[in-house]
Formats: sequence, structure tokens, C-alpha cells
Amino acid sequence: MKLAKRLKQIEPFHVMDLLAKAKTLQQQGRDIIHLEVGEPDFDSPQAVIDGGIRALEQGLTHYTGATGLPELKQKIAQFYGERYGEIVEPERIVITPGASGALQLVASLLMDPGETLLLTDPGYPCNRHFLANINADGILVPTQAQDDFHLTPQQVAHYWQDDTIGALVASPSNPTGSIMSKAELTALHDAISERDGLLLVDEIYHGLTYNDAKPHSAVNYGDNVFVINSFSKYFAMTGWRLGWVVAPKWAVPSLDKLAQNLFLAPNTPAQYAALEVFKPDVIAELERRKGEFAKRLDYLLPQLQKLGFVIPAQPQGALYIYADISGLNHPHNQNSMQFCLDLLNEKGLAITPGIDFAHEQGHHFVRFAYTCDVPVLQEAVSRLAEFLNNSK
Ligand SMILES: Cc1ncc(COP(=O)(O)O)c(C=O)c1O
Repeated sequence: MKLAKRLKQIEPFHVMDLLAKAKTLQQQGRDIIHLEVGEPDFDSPQAVIDGGIRALEQGLTHYTGATGLPELKQKIAQFYGERYGEIVEPERIVITPGASGALQLVASLLMDPGETLLLTDPGYPCNRHFLANINADGILVPTQAQDDFHLTPQQVAHYWQDDTIGALVASPSNPTGSIMSKAELTALHDAISERDGLLLVDEIYHGLTYNDAKPHSAVNYGDNVFVINSFSKYFAMTGWRLGWVVAPKWAVPSLDKLAQNLFLAPNTPAQYAALEVFKPDVIAELERRKGEFAKRLDYLLPQLQKLGFVIPAQPQGALYIYADISGLNHPHNQNSMQFCLDLLNEKGLAITPGIDFAHEQGHHFVRFAYTCDVPVLQEAVSRLAEFLNNSK
């Protein structure tokens, strides 16, 4: 049977092979530690679950408007005021099926076939694939360790082409967890504005930043900026599939039209459930969990460094540590997939190979997702130590 040609450009996650392998090993009775999956291990807060159940019981199972519940937009707008001191009009907010839906919606809004968008390498792999799905292209810019793998104005100048419409960056980043400073973000925005381009900022990991690191939101940078966010990570609602875009006003009617046609509406019970997350006791619980993630990062980062992993970009947020394995004494220190497969087979520890995130240096990087408690991380570190010693 014939498939669309663009499917050739859409790759599966390499980590899925690892996951399948991990499942088989688990079925055989092996004890597997999972540090590969990029979602919080915490369940959704109880108030959110109760809110979802209540919505279902009240028969709130019908479509909402295509851009979402006005009450939820209002709450999100208020959240920007309280957290960031940023005034965001609720009319600028479009609720979507996850950040994934938001990214696809914005890309479909802005890009014609053949046009290009600058992306970071390393970066979130789905970006170039949803662009391929609308016959647009991502230009993978090999960002540098000395810049914390952030896209710089110089790189914008170097990689910009006639058909480039702008750039998409994530801060904090997946896979590095590093945060773009206000100065970096504004310089990037300036470089893009000079070229009449558009800046898309994926702020999905914004709530998850540690040790006094404060990310800076681009919501009010100007009329050429789209901010993408989600209830998945900080709010621990991955499975509810709910996110949002903060768009410039001029774009909202067209986003509405597109959302009507692509999604009809975001998930209704999920939107009612999400109304609960802004209550003070829920926020207090989310902040407590954030403290847990911080403890895990504070434990794991120095331990990995002691074992010889090099972590060039300071992880300050998200759930990840992106580690260079090329200095390790291991036969596969230049082959991250084989390194991860050996680690899984020999020690039952699952991590993600860098090739899922980077074309440029992915073969000698791996990503750790600290989605287990510190005692489990301690066990993971001792397994890693044995793994590396055995390979000497
Ligand atoms: C950087 C980034 N953006 C977007 C997404 C999509 O998230 P969701 O669709 O669950 O909101 C993810 C998921 O891991 C991510 O890491």
C-alpha cells in the first residue's frame, strides 16, 4: 500500500526499541530502573482527578469552543500575572490538545510547504517531524556546548535562508534542562525581528526550574512571538492531553479557524479538571513535588560527574541531564544507542540515547530523566558504576 512520501522523513524514537526491550526483560523477571521516559512520575493531583470525575458526572462531555473554555483562559492569564508579573489578555490564549497540539497548530498557521524554521540540535525530536508533516522543514542548527546549546543571534544570521520564517526554541530545554537568560532570549528575538521573522518559544518546562533559577517568559515580547505551554509537566497531567498557545492578537481568529478544523475542541473533562490546578493547595503540592525534583537533580548531577560523565550545559530545569559519554572508559562511548542497550541488558537501567535528540553529537550523549526517587537513583548510580568498572 502507498504511504505519503513525507512519512520517510518521520523517524520513530530510538528509545522505543529500548522500551520494548526493557518490557521484555521485565516480563522475564528482571528489575528495571526507568530513567528514560520524559514525564513526571507523580500522578495528577487529587483535586484534578476529582475535578475530572465531577465534570464527567455532571455530563460535561460535549464540545467546548474550538479555542477552549473561557474560564480556563482566564485562569491561565491570571497565572501569568501572579507568577511572572506579565499581563496577558485571556483572548490571546488558545487551549490545545497538549503542547503537541499547540506546536502543530502554530506550525500549520505560519508555514507554507518548503518554508523552513530554525531548530536547535540537540532539541525535541518531534519538532522536525511535525514540520515534515506539513511539508515544511526544520533546519537543525548545531548549537554549542559553550552556549549551553542555546541558539545564538550569530547562528540565526548564519543559518537564515530566504525561505526561513523564524525559529523555535525551548527553555528550559529538552534534553539539556538549561534555561535561556532574559538577555539571551531578547538578543535572539532581536536577531529574528531584524529579519521580519517569528519566534516560537516552547515553555513547557517552565514550572520545573530548580535552585533559584527563574525562567523568563517571552509572552510579551511582541507581535511576532508565539509561546507554547502545557499542563503535562509541572501540572503532572500528561495523559489528559491539554496545553495552550499564547498568540499575538492578530493570529487568534486564524488559530480559531484552524483549531475548529483540526481538533474541533480540546478535551472537555480535562479542561474542567485543569481549572483545579490553580488553587493554592494544589499549587503548594506542585511546588513540593518541584522540591523533590530539585533534590534528585542535586543528587544525580554530581554523582554522574564523579563517574566521568561530562555535563556541558548546566541543567537548571525540566527533568533531564544531558551527559557526554565520550570520556568514559567504555567500548561504546561513541555509540550512544549501543551504550544504552548494553546498560539495559547488563544492569537493567534504561536511559535515552542522544541520537533521539541530536544529529550532530547524539552518538556520544545520553539523557537521564530523573523521574524516580533518590533511593532509586542511588541504586541507578551504583549500577552505572558497576557497568563502567566492568567494561575496564
Ligand atoms: C520540549 C517539549 N515540547 C513539547 C512536548 C509535548 O508535550 P505535551 O504534548 O504532552 O504537552 C514535550 C514532551 O515531552 C517536550 O519535551
